[in-house]
Amino acid sequence: MKSKEVVRLSSSESGSAQQREHWGSRLGFVLAAAGSAIGLGNIWRFPYLVGKNGGAIFILVYLVITIFIGLPVMLGEFAIGRAAQRSPVGAFRALNVNPFWGVIGWMGTLAGGFLVLSYYNVIGGWTIKYMVASFTGLMDSTATAEQSGAFFGTFIGEQGQVVAFQVLFVFVGMLIVWGGIGKGIERSCKVMMPLLFIIMLVLIARAVTLPGAEAGINFYLNPDWSKLKDPALYLDALGQSFFSLSLGLGIMITYGSYIGKDEHLPSSSLWTASLDTLIALLAGFAIFPAVFAMNFEPGAGVGLTFITLPAVFSKMPGGAYVSFLFFLLLFFAAITSSMSLLEVATTFAMEKFSLKRSHAVWLTGIIVILLGGYSSLSLSGPPKITFMGKSKDFLDAVDYLCNNILLPVGSLLTCVFVGWFWLDPAKKELTNDGEVACPWMGVWTWCVRFFAPCAIFYIFWTGIKW
Ligand code: PHE
Repeated sequence: MKSKEVVRLSSSESGSAQQREHWGSRLGFVLAAAGSAIGLGNIWRFPYLVGKNGGAIFILVYLVITIFIGLPVMLGEFAIGRAAQRSPVGAFRALNVNPFWGVIGWMGTLAGGFLVLSYYNVIGGWTIKYMVASFTGLMDSTATAEQSGAFFGTFIGEQGQVVAFQVLFVFVGMLIVWGGIGKGIERSCKVMMPLLFIIMLVLIARAVTLPGAEAGINFYLNPDWSKLKDPALYLDALGQSFFSLSLGLGIMITYGSYIGKDEHLPSSSLWTASLDTLIALLAGFAIFPAVFAMNFEPGAGVGLTFITLPAVFSKMPGGAYVSFLFFLLLFFAAITSSMSLLEVATTFAMEKFSLKRSHAVWLTGIIVILLGGYSSLSLSGPPKITFMGKSKDFLDAVDYLCNNILLPVGSLLTCVFVGWFWLDPAKKELTNDGEVACPWMGVWTWCVRFFAPCAIFYIFWTGIKW
């Protein structure tokens, strides 16, 4: 009863939680949470990290980390959100715990709502550009990886274009978030997520039937065990798991705050994490067989998606269509994630400044566009971040700061909070006050109290470098 009482008391404090919108259905919620989780992280980041970190060995480490660290953190975030019925900043106050924990909410909102979005939308904009370009010249300019690199370089050097596509992308996200939880986010995810899945299957069918595709499948499924000695592998896998599951930034706290009281949190989180992992694994099957069949380098890093793949497509029969479909897929993935970040910033603005949703969307949208503009400009010019003698683009620096520092730290704090300071209310939340069973409660408790915090701390400590 305690957690429910806390909610009731604190909701009468501001009145906002009582009229809080809820997801229309369980499927709607899972698809929205999966929509947030499945994003550029799965299709752009996961395959290039696999390429960089020795193929299947990365996948194995990633799976272990996701099951024993990512999933427990996600469950903790859902529980906090549903108990508090607030966005992350207000959530810890609503739970009546030591105000220190509010730091998780603040860090998440600032890092997620603003920092991650500032570069996420820039890349989101690229997907629109590449969709259009698939039929207007991309295929003619990308016969080799070098030419494709030059095409990409010229594009990101044209600041006006990059900013315009980024603004367009943000506008689409704002429009959806404007519609609210049910009519905006839930409805759009219900359309886009199944489409994304179908497109993925079409692309895989195309890739694996190319002559020479087996080499890619072998690379993808063959572990290079020697990589296990490299600490960077673990930090990459950990950061990727948090990034991909949208953890450590309060997104799942926010989404959890819209879940109905009778929903079964453990199975919702299992569904969300499984769908996310499935799409990441499938992305590899769509990409590596094609890359190998066309004799390209799998370890091309960040450029794998925007440089190597167009070159691969341009050599395939029907390449323009495949290319269009691929970037449409990437667009769906990116926009459903981007709007979850925008939603966090928007609910924050609504609660903090008592704004109407529409005004809050404008406010956050404009801030995000301005920050994104800075990211875009840094790709082609001076705004660089120099630290300890090394300098990075603003976009790279923010990506590094978020994925390798803020997400792990946010998730570590969440584990410590849930495992050591809020365990009983969390357990009540996970079992709907004792009404439903949570079969893996023992494992979850052990992970959230001991394994996850120690592992995050260790991996973070050994792997961190600028
Ligand atoms: N999970 C998203 C992806 O995989 C990115 C994201 C990170 C979204 C953090 C929200 C919060 O692309």
